[in-house]
Amino acid sequence: MAFELPKLPYAMDALAPNISAETLEFHHGKHHATYVTNLNNLIKGGKFENAPLEQIIKEAGPGGLFNNAAQHFNHSFYWTSMKPKGGGEPAGKVADGIKKAFGDFAAFKKKFSDAATTHFGSGWAWLVKTKAGTFEIKSTPNQDNPMSNGEFPILGNDVWEHAYYLKYQNRRADYLKAWWNIVNWDEVNKRLAQADGFFK
Ligand code: FE2
Repeated sequence: MAFELPKLPYAMDALAPNISAETLEFHHGKHHATYVTNLNNLIKGGKFENAPLEQIIKEAGPGGLFNNAAQHFNHSFYWTSMKPKGGGEPAGKVADGIKKAFGDFAAFKKKFSDAATTHFGSGWAWLVKTKAGTFEIKSTPNQDNPMSNGEFPILGNDVWEHAYYLKYQNRRADYLKAWWNIVNWDEVNKRLAQADGFFK
């Protein structure tokens, strides 16, 4: 069964001014769409033709199939990490985990922003839950995802230039600063609730 580009859970202009409609049109409608098209072409007629996405990511090994499958996963994850009028501070278990790991929200935000802005080249910044149950901040190059290292991502930020260049050009730090206004903390709490299933 072919994979499909998921619809954005908000309108193209709903994240503006933090992320412009033009940026979303290219990022979702061109970049993500291309990963999905490539993925479908690569699985056609092969042993992964009907496999779930997570299985492909786990078993494909390095190369084009893994790259496109992982980017399909990462981008689907990214779209739902954001919402119009999001931001602020998380509540519930995510707030507890952040406090335990980083002291307070401001310290977490600074550490995550530093990881995202200083990541060299294309990639992703993540808040993960580890097998030991603690929260950590990670960054991964290109298409890589913390799940490959046995860590469960609950928040992810795309720091590829295609995520911000149309509005912010080279100013990745400004994109990051604006991104905090649209983080969907309810979704992050929902993901955290699924972490136990991943570590089973
Ligand atoms: Fe992207």
